[in-house]
Amino acid sequence: MVRSLHLVLMELADRIAELRELIAYHNRRYHELDDPEIADGEFDLLVRELQTLEAEYPDLVAPDSPVAAVGGAPSAAFSPVVHSVRMASLDNAMDLGELRAWGDRVLRGLNGEQPRFVGELKIDGVAISIRYEQGRYVRAATRGDGSVGEDVTANVATILGIPEVLNRPESLLAGSDVVPDVLEVRGEVYLPIATFEDLNLAAGRAGEHRFVNPRNAAAGSLRQKDPSITAKRRLQMWAYQVGELLGGPLMTSHHETLEYLAHLGFPVNPEVQLLTDLEAVIAHCQYWQEHRHDLGYEIDGVVIKVDDLAQRELLGSTSRAPRWAIAFKFPPEERTTILRDIQVSVGRTGRVTPFAVLEPVFVSGSTVAMATLHNEDQVRIKDVRPGDTVVVRKAGDVIPEVVGPVLAMRPAGSEPWVFPRTCPCALSSTLQRIEGEANTRCVEPACPYQRDQRVIYWASRQAMDIDGLGERTIAQLTAASMIVDPADLYSLTADQVEPLEGFARPSAEKLVAAIAESRQRPLPRLLTALGVKHLGPAAASALSQRFGTLDKVIDADAEELAAVEGVGPVIAASIRAWSDLASNREFIEKLRLAGIDFGDPERAATDGSDGSGDLPQMLAGKTVVVSGSLAGYTREGAIEAITRRGGKSPGSVSAKTDALVIGDSPGASKVSKAEALGIPLLDAAQFEELLDTGEIPLR
Ligand code: IVH
Repeated sequence: MVRSLHLVLMELADRIAELRELIAYHNRRYHELDDPEIADGEFDLLVRELQTLEAEYPDLVAPDSPVAAVGGAPSAAFSPVVHSVRMASLDNAMDLGELRAWGDRVLRGLNGEQPRFVGELKIDGVAISIRYEQGRYVRAATRGDGSVGEDVTANVATILGIPEVLNRPESLLAGSDVVPDVLEVRGEVYLPIATFEDLNLAAGRAGEHRFVNPRNAAAGSLRQKDPSITAKRRLQMWAYQVGELLGGPLMTSHHETLEYLAHLGFPVNPEVQLLTDLEAVIAHCQYWQEHRHDLGYEIDGVVIKVDDLAQRELLGSTSRAPRWAIAFKFPPEERTTILRDIQVSVGRTGRVTPFAVLEPVFVSGSTVAMATLHNEDQVRIKDVRPGDTVVVRKAGDVIPEVVGPVLAMRPAGSEPWVFPRTCPCALSSTLQRIEGEANTRCVEPACPYQRDQRVIYWASRQAMDIDGLGERTIAQLTAASMIVDPADLYSLTADQVEPLEGFARPSAEKLVAAIAESRQRPLPRLLTALGVKHLGPAAASALSQRFGTLDKVIDADAEELAAVEGVGPVIAASIRAWSDLASNREFIEKLRLAGIDFGDPERAATDGSDGSGDLPQMLAGKTVVVSGSLAGYTREGAIEAITRRGGKSPGSVSAKTDALVIGDSPGASKVSKAEALGIPLLDAAQFEELLDTGEIPLR
């Protein structure tokens, strides 16, 4: 059926009207209420859609379209300030194609004359304009709608690094030693990530509302009625533009302007770069898209500006934004989605972990349908409830994380989620949470969930590495009572495996062979596979070197164990407690009968040396933590590469850590802790460099 053009236009008009409403609404939530409901990237998409429709169907455009408007109207709570020079916004390029198209437009606008560009970081904060008269701080205002902002003079005065009186640069530029009659400095007020995390930690402890991200926290902190609260928030600022300038030096380029600002005493971002052509611009944008998390503050893109001020004049502005600048926006890393449910999973040690079941959503390169919520307290602090619209992001760029709920979209009558009191398994045993501990546990030794997880862990890549033995097969084996513990795997026959779902004769034989082959795994893997609480690959490797056999490890007393470098009293006590349990001793005997290699008594290092003198000890005295798996290495392999060179590789990050090596799926807590402590993060290539040279590579 052919739809009439009239009908199509009516639908388009409806969609345009809807988009306008949505944009105006979200604009208000973002700019005026500091409480956005949707992620920035999604807002950009709405604006995009409206811009496209308006461009294609100019007849349907209304004069009051929000696309032409900048930001939000000033709030009534702060006095209005009329900007003497309008605070424009920037047009966005959402991909390299759009960036190139902008570059072409600039070139055409300059009649083919090649411009030079300046690349700046697009700081994710709050735009501010600060006015100086005769070199003295007189007023600061937010952008508001671009023409009228809010007076935040008292609050901005508390920000460290913003001068009260301007310096007098001596001979920088002609006339720069003269104090300008009027100078308006524009820049971005922001909150460093570490400061934001501290703030939220304190808010969580006090039971107060937590901020969703550093930008919101900066906006909220700037719009305090009481400036002494703003002062405590430790805001910072980067200056990047001049508004009104009367009686100052004559500047001909943007980079001169930035130099001048720095000499006057303003913080100017050190990552500013002069770029000679569009190819350099593109390389610059790509570099920062990859390295955006290397900074201690959030950026959401790169701003490219034409350097020459005369060329800027020639290019001019539209009603919304200058033609001489563009914001290259990174793909969004935060999205909103529906939290369908909160469920719990039971780990091999009985730890019960809540996790979010999400309406699948695409974030930073992959679809996210689940995210851990860590423990009961985390769910309570975040107060996420089934049915909520939640903000989802990738922590450290990899691990999906639920940031928090969008309170304005919470369904009426929703109740806080309650942690279950019984294990979700068929035994429904009562769960325990020990006073002072964050974790809830199932303490039933016969819990089928724990049993499955123990076998899954046994077969995993970091432990006995049994190829082809995945979760589904293990669940079938335990459900059919073909195995109770990992030792039973070794008596399985191809005849028994073949009838299982997903198997045929060859695959059954292959699995049985893979299981058999795992009998010979080196001792560190066997020790890891036992699943003793706190005993990870690094300590397992140290214990193997010291004791040589499984029997010697489980018979050693706590002091002997704790004396091993990298083990310590907590792991030692855990090994002792595990080894003293009769059921675990029976399990060990079952493994012995199954023919598992328990190690070689000859390999034990009696003098405490680990026999690693085969390689130059270039990492002696260095502590390098590994998180995630690296191309070409298992985690244990990476740890071994460090210890064989004389370095230490404990399982956790501390102030003593010299570097954190990040592989695939690293632990988010390790990454954020390392970032907070300012510890260098190394990728796989930099790890190789470290192994070769013994030097921590600098970026
Ligand atoms: S220049 C006329 N430079 O991004 C040019 N803006 O999306 C005015 N921003 O309103 C802006 N970093 O709040 C400029 N290095 C930078 C920036 C930057 C962040 C913000 C600013 C602006 C918004 C536009």
